[in-house]
Amino acid sequence: MRRNLRSDQERLWRSLMEMAEVGATPKGGSKRLTLTDEDRDGRNLFVRWCENAGLAVTVDAIGNIFARRAGRDPSRPPVMAGSHLDTQPTGGRFDGVLGVLAALEVVRSLDDYGIETEAPVEVAVWTNEEGSRFSPAMMGSGVFAGVFELDDITQTADVDGAVMGEELERIGYAGEAPVGDREVGAYFELHIEQGPILEDEDRTIGVVTAAQGQRWLEIHVTGHESHAGPTPMPVRKDALVVASGIVGEVNRIGHAYAPHACATVGFMDVSPNSRNVIPGHVFLTVDFRHPVGDDLTAMDSDLKAYCADQAEETGVDIAVKDFWHFPSTPFDADCVEAVRAAAEAQGFAHRDIVSGAGHDAVYMARIAPTGMIFVPCEGGISHNEEENATPEDCAAGCDVLLAAVLEKAGVVENP
Ligand code: HGY
Ligand code: MN
Ligand code: MN
Repeated sequence: MRRNLRSDQERLWRSLMEMAEVGATPKGGSKRLTLTDEDRDGRNLFVRWCENAGLAVTVDAIGNIFARRAGRDPSRPPVMAGSHLDTQPTGGRFDGVLGVLAALEVVRSLDDYGIETEAPVEVAVWTNEEGSRFSPAMMGSGVFAGVFELDDITQTADVDGAVMGEELERIGYAGEAPVGDREVGAYFELHIEQGPILEDEDRTIGVVTAAQGQRWLEIHVTGHESHAGPTPMPVRKDALVVASGIVGEVNRIGHAYAPHACATVGFMDVSPNSRNVIPGHVFLTVDFRHPVGDDLTAMDSDLKAYCADQAEETGVDIAVKDFWHFPSTPFDADCVEAVRAAAEAQGFAHRDIVSGAGHDAVYMARIAPTGMIFVPCEGGISHNEEENATPEDCAAGCDVLLAAVLEKAGVVENP
């Protein structure tokens, strides 16, 4: 059992910092919105590194990238490790990227040690994990796992009307390979925690046992545009006043289902957005999360009841649409134990933890034994240009990833 091999901390950190330069922002973050030129440049850099490492690179029809290191037995399903390279608009240098480049570092380390694995090892880059430019999130892993239909996904449009499938073609990542429908021996994803728990408890490794459930709603509030001057207050149908009430109710619900609930309105579009016109229409998004399914359902029902009451009371039309949902997702017990045993063998302080964020591992868990590894990020801050992690913690996560991958891929002794 090779649980104590170390990866090359300097090499991993150099690759992280070089990738961070692609789409670098003035405040020290990274902006590589999915399928933009910056995303293309990040993908190209990754592919170049993989080709230099002698890996066989394939791209599937949704733009997922797979870089394969041969194993002794090509008939065995590959052990995969990876994450995403796309970022939020004000993203950081580690969200997603760490999982991709640590997986590449695993392969590079196997070469350094001259280790042959029984099963092939694949580094995976999933298209549009973030769901910011095109929604929903986790598109590439979702199509790969059979959750979404390729044709539905490639027809999604961004706020400017750009179509996902056309952008995929434009950046040269509409690949030839079919999406999914192939066996995966196991999948592991290293990620920063994006929350404060590991840092607060001074732990290096998070053994991720599950990811909490998530519901995204889309709400259209339609009132009546009219002049901000002559229109008397009692007769107004002000869509922004009603939408603001909804924002307050989302926040109230989040606190009402404490301590685990999360509730966010992250996007709002006011029309016509003119200072002397009473807003006639508001579009807003709701992001509800909770580890317990019944509570997540109750949060959703509470908001819908509030909207129905408000529509009745104000005469403003409120259309609530279920946009996306995935349930709380447990990870594979053997994969979780492989992560825990590696952390223990390598002497890293660790604890079990449930992921507050969604990850491609959530969809991979539907088709393959899946595990996740967390490392701390400074102040628990993420989806923010200040996102930060240390070279030592990134390397610790990579060492645990290396051990977990070897546990599942098997090592050819005395080749
Ligand atoms: O929203 C999420 O949890 C992830 O960052 N896409
Ligand atoms: Mn991520
Ligand atoms: Mn993210």
